[in-house]
Amino acid sequence: MKKLIGLIIVLISIAAAIIIIQQLISKEPSITNSPAPVQQKAWIGPDLNTDPSIKGNERASILYGHDLIAHTSKYFGPKGILSKITNGMNCQNCHLNAGNQPWGNNYGAVYSTYPKYRDRSGSIETIYKRVSDCMQRSLNGMAIDSNSKEFIAIFAYIQWLGKDVKKGEKPIGAGIEKIAYLNRAADPKKGRAIYIATCQICHGNNGQGQMLATKKEYAYPPVWGENSYNDGAGLYRISNLAGYIKNNMPFLKTSHASPALTNEACWDVAAFINSMPRPHMNQSMDWPSISKKPIDYPFGPYADSFSELQHKYGPFQEMIASAKH
Ligand code: HEC
Ligand code: HEC
Repeated sequence: MKKLIGLIIVLISIAAAIIIIQQLISKEPSITNSPAPVQQKAWIGPDLNTDPSIKGNERASILYGHDLIAHTSKYFGPKGILSKITNGMNCQNCHLNAGNQPWGNNYGAVYSTYPKYRDRSGSIETIYKRVSDCMQRSLNGMAIDSNSKEFIAIFAYIQWLGKDVKKGEKPIGAGIEKIAYLNRAADPKKGRAIYIATCQICHGNNGQGQMLATKKEYAYPPVWGENSYNDGAGLYRISNLAGYIKNNMPFLKTSHASPALTNEACWDVAAFINSMPRPHMNQSMDWPSISKKPIDYPFGPYADSFSELQHKYGPFQEMIASAKH
């Protein structure tokens, strides 16, 4: 009996020691990171599975909206069950975790800031207009009807996701991060080497990505070529692409807190990707006021005298400096 009690005490002590050691290990990162500046917490939306506020028909619509964003191709891709109107990419390929990923081009500022005036169209844009833009540009396809069950579901999802963000507010970590400009032009040649070493394994030697075995959506989406975003898309602007890559690629091997690539590598690989062929979109109606074109919008005419090439790859600093005079 005594032996048994002794054994139990020994076992309990071992268990306690394991728990203490585990806690020490799990605390380690905050100990080693302690000299770093305090980072404000990035926005993250509610959890679809546990949010008790969504019920009944509304819940069904929000869940459908989530599925449309996560698996867009299933509905609208080249083998879409509703219609065949897009290139086969999913919204989620670029709006990670269905738009609920800090620094992952998320939807944290959508419900809170739309409708809003945007210079690209020179008009007040609704969420419907903005979603349609991504369908026509990023998905190189066609918009869906604003009265369709599908758009109503996408809207319901985006609204629910942003419901706790104050009107007019853009939370930390929303959208894509703006990373610092280089003091030279971004270099597609250097970027090509980075692509081959770091990205090609998933996105393919010809940027074509890789389909899932079902052939209904991508496991790894294309980054150039006929099934990729067109040259009117947000990612075709190198600052957006570089900022997206910085916090999100290579997929699952990087994060805002510890990015895998330097800023320089991000600009260069973005330059390489956007130097490769992709579908063209007529953008003659965009940017009705040419002085409002973003510095990295690669199609003239411009209000300044810099070339399309410099607007595409930089160096941007001297352009910003000259704009201030
Ligand atoms: C190829 C990448 C890509 C795909 C695919 C894509 N988008 Fe986008 N989307 C972007 C980029 C880039 C932006 C602009 C981000 C910025 O300017 O900060 C954007 C912006 C948006 C915005 C506005 C965000 C804001 O904060 O103002 C909404 C809403 C949106 N997309 C919805 C969608 C929906 C819905 C789909 C699928 C039907 C989709 N997107 C597919 C890249 C993509
Ligand atoms: C381990 C595989 C993997 C690696 C390596 C990887 N990616 Fe991705 N990438 C993905 C996946 C998966 C997605 C889509 C994520 C989703 O749908 O949730 C994606 C999405 C993207 C997108 C947005 C969608 C598109 O196709 O336009 C870009 C741009 C991108 N990756 C660029 C890069 C670059 C640049 C690198 C190298 C620095 C890289 N990726 C490395 C897996 C990878």
